[in-house]
Amino acid sequence: MVVDIALKKVVDDSYKITIDKLKDIHFDTKTAIITNPTVAGFHLRYLLNAISAKELYVITVPDGEEYKNQETIDMILENLFNHRFNRNSLLIAFGGGVIGDMTGYAASIYQRGIDFIQIPTTLLSQVDASVGGKTGMNNTYGKNLVGAFHQPNAVYIDPYFLSTLPSREFAAGIAEIVKMAVTFDDEFFSWLEENDLNNTTLLAEAVKKSVEIKADVVSKDEKEKGLRAALNYGHTFAHVIENETEYKTYLHGEAVSIGMVMANALALKLELLTEHEAMRIKNILLKYRLPVSYDVKDIESFYEAFYLDKKSSDTMITFILPEHIGGVKITDEVDSAVVKDVLRSFKAL
Ligand code: NAD
Ligand code: GLY
Repeated sequence: MVVDIALKKVVDDSYKITIDKLKDIHFDTKTAIITNPTVAGFHLRYLLNAISAKELYVITVPDGEEYKNQETIDMILENLFNHRFNRNSLLIAFGGGVIGDMTGYAASIYQRGIDFIQIPTTLLSQVDASVGGKTGMNNTYGKNLVGAFHQPNAVYIDPYFLSTLPSREFAAGIAEIVKMAVTFDDEFFSWLEENDLNNTTLLAEAVKKSVEIKADVVSKDEKEKGLRAALNYGHTFAHVIENETEYKTYLHGEAVSIGMVMANALALKLELLTEHEAMRIKNILLKYRLPVSYDVKDIESFYEAFYLDKKSSDTMITFILPEHIGGVKITDEVDSAVVKDVLRSFKAL
């Protein structure tokens, strides 16, 4: 016997990304701000002057990628149960991408899913992580391997928060801006070459442009069935580097910077990208003092780790390779020997 269950859905998950100074926002529901001591120390007072809620709690979790795990998620959920949060309650992610990913994930599973809002405070989270609804956490197998697509109800990007960002974190955010340009917009890339994002007006323009690119990609391919995978340019390599170095040596954006240079080397070998284009990309990364080299100690284990990438299958590894500046090729047809040759060339650096 077969029983049909009709579940055809029309869901409108649209939301607005506001880039402006935070002011006079009220949430008419029980609300928890999820943050960490660093962000709270710098900016919680500012936030509490700008937002209010029917009932407002602050839940503070430890700061760091190494805490983006089940233990921290459990701690967030426990707090929500203790405060009797219900299905109408709201979470606010107030921090960088780590807080954003974990808050979104907690929101996606608490009582099978509640609303959340992103208030990103790092450059990386303003231009990338806060937009698009990818949420999750790391485990011993690798990075972001557990999670859910759960769109925020709104994103509020206030440039003021960036004033306290350490320079390494700033550069890490630039890496994701470069990623957006290389993958989707050659004009934006040329603009990045000509302009210095240490200027706050120009930085605001770059944030807006990056958010527009990301919003457009996510609107076309929310669940990463095709186009959105392009935003993983550099990440296939970066996730292995982050895991190998136990999240201690490189910031995510720094690993992405190295990963983009590695992807470019592979694209060069496959004659997709020219030497000149690869050099233009590397030069922008160097302009912001981002790392561009990595010592691949064990080629076989680095290669094997690609199989844990979410885009890979049991037998195939998917690479996102630039074909030119402003366009990428998504391919699972790269000979392992060619990839290993490229990895070997990094061993010597
Ligand atoms: P992060 O969240 O760890 O923040 C970096 C550091 O800056 C932290 O110590 C944080 O406390 C501190 N900080 C945050 N705001 C600050 C401020 N205004 N002033 C001073 N210090 C501040 O790192 P990140 O780079 O923002 O995010 C990286 C994470 O984002 C990774 O886990 C990555 O996987 C994830 N990510 C997710 C997506 C997505 O689409 N969901 C996209 C890209 C990256
Ligand atoms: N950061 C990649 C994505 O959101 O798809």
